[in-house]
Amino acid sequence: MKILILPDAQSASRRVADAITAQVAKKPDSVLGLATGGTMEPVYTDLVRRAQSGGCDISRVTTFNLDEYVGLAPGHPQSYRHFMTERLFAPLGIRDEQTHLPTADAGNCDQVAKDYERAINEAGGIDLQLLGIGHNGHIGFNEPTSSLASRTRVKTLTERTREANSRYFREDEEIPRFAITMGIGTILDTAEVCLLAVGDAKAAAVAAMVEGPVSARCPASALQFHRKATIVLDEAAASRLELRDYYDTVHPGGAETGL
Ligand code: GLP
Repeated sequence: MKILILPDAQSASRRVADAITAQVAKKPDSVLGLATGGTMEPVYTDLVRRAQSGGCDISRVTTFNLDEYVGLAPGHPQSYRHFMTERLFAPLGIRDEQTHLPTADAGNCDQVAKDYERAINEAGGIDLQLLGIGHNGHIGFNEPTSSLASRTRVKTLTERTREANSRYFREDEEIPRFAITMGIGTILDTAEVCLLAVGDAKAAAVAAMVEGPVSARCPASALQFHRKATIVLDEAAASRLELRDYYDTVHPGGAETGL
């Protein structure tokens, strides 16, 4: 794992936008794995700004999002499809046909999950997967005790996750209980991952992911098995790491130095 600790949330999200920009410059038709959540919003805002000022062209990519709530139609304001269309796809001129989310209702989850895995394979696999992390260490919607070999499937959300995500729903709206998510095995198969975590609230999950034992108790700890994982943190999210001196020695200030 490459651990990059940036001074603040803004520079950390800029670093992730740099990684995506570099990937697309190297391979304009990259297959990108995308994530939702508040952490990703500044990254997407930055990418849109860069594209609109002519700094990069992200219009030729194919995308696969990590997850989607079961039962929310693409037009639902809290669906991840809506989030992505508003914040990234429409502003960048990425057409619907280039994008994939595991949109399903209770009746067709298993088929949607299978088709999703097949579509990722047919696209040649994911070149760069963007990730956030939940307070309980989830990645995508792989909640604690998810199989570390899991593929795309339905997961029941924990109450903690539903509570954390309730901020996006109106008070009178039911927060979904189920989601379809890429599995941990699916994520481990990607060529490269870049995980962004900012703020104190993520510090315990980050420490468990990076320095804890590999365990389904903290699904993100499975990334210790990933061949090419970069973890981008701000100071607050890095505050509970015990081997901090080492990360600073290898990548001072989050710089990509070293051999
Ligand atoms: C959500 C998403 C994850 C995301 C995480 C953190 O439930 N399924 O992909 O990384 O929770 O979200 P936030 O960035 O809003 O803290």
